[in-house]
Amino acid sequence: MSAEARIERIAVPDLAQRKGGEPIVCLTAYTTPIARLLDPHVDLLLVGDSLGMVLYGFESTLQVTLDLMIAHGAAVHRGSRRACLVVDLPFGSYQESPAVAFRNAARVMAETGSSAVKLEGGVEMAETVAFLTRRGIPVMGHVGLTPQSVNGLRGYRARGRDPLEAKAIKADAAAIAEAGAFNIVLEGVVEPLAREIVASVATPIIGIGASPACDGQVLVVDDMTGLFGEFKPKFVKRFAELGAEVGKAAADYAAEVRARRFPGPEHCFGFGANAKT
Ligand code: KIV
Repeated sequence: MSAEARIERIAVPDLAQRKGGEPIVCLTAYTTPIARLLDPHVDLLLVGDSLGMVLYGFESTLQVTLDLMIAHGAAVHRGSRRACLVVDLPFGSYQESPAVAFRNAARVMAETGSSAVKLEGGVEMAETVAFLTRRGIPVMGHVGLTPQSVNGLRGYRARGRDPLEAKAIKADAAAIAEAGAFNIVLEGVVEPLAREIVASVATPIIGIGASPACDGQVLVVDDMTGLFGEFKPKFVKRFAELGAEVGKAAADYAAEVRARRFPGPEHCFGFGANAKT
C-alpha cells in the first residue's frame, strides 16, 4: 500500500472529543471534484440533503431520495481520504420507526463508505438515535431550524426568540446528546440560546447561523463560494464569488466562439499542412 493510501480518516470518536477544543471545521460536499478540493482543509465533509435545492433546484429538501443521497455520498467518498464523511438521511427514510431508520442508515453506510449519518429532530427522534448508536451506526443530530420540517415551521426564520420555543430547542439538544449523538448541528437559532446550549450540552455543537461559541461551524459549500446565488442567508459569509467567475467565463467563451477566436491553432490536432501534433 502506498504512503498516500495509508492516510487515515478523522474518526467519529476524534470528533466526539472536540468539546471546547479546536473548532470542528465542516463543509458540505456533493461531488467528487469538490470533495477533492475541500478534503485537505476540513475535519468533516457533510453530504447534506441541501443538495436537493443546491444541485437539483428543488424548492425544499423534502423531495430528496435515499438513492440520491447514496449516489452523492459515494461520489464524495471517492473524492476524499482524510475528512470524516457524514451523509444525511433524507425525509421519510428514518421517521417511521427505529427499525426503518436502521435499515436505511445501514444501506447508506454500506453503499457510500460514510462513517456516520445525520438526521433531523429532537426529543421525538431520541429513541431512534439511541437505537442506531447502540447498533454501530454513529449519528450526528440536527436541531433548531430543521429544514425537513419547513412546512410546520413557518419558513426558514431563525428560531428560539419565543421562550417556549427556546425551551423546546434546549430540550431537543439535550435529548439527542443523551441518546448518544457524537456531534449536533444547531441551525438558525438566536445567538444567546445557541451559546446557552453549547454551555449546557457535553456533545460538541456544530453551528450554522448559531453562535461563534459553538464547538465547530458548517456552511453549504455553494453558499460560501458564491456558486448558489438564489439567496444569501444572513449567516453565510462569501469566501469567494465563483458564481460571478463562471458567468464571466461563459460570456468570454461565447464572445470568442462567435468571433472565431476560439478554438485557435493550439487547440487543434494536426493544424496546418505539415503539422506533427
Ligand atoms: O443539508 C445540509 O446541507 C445541512 C447543513 C446545512 C447542516 O444539513
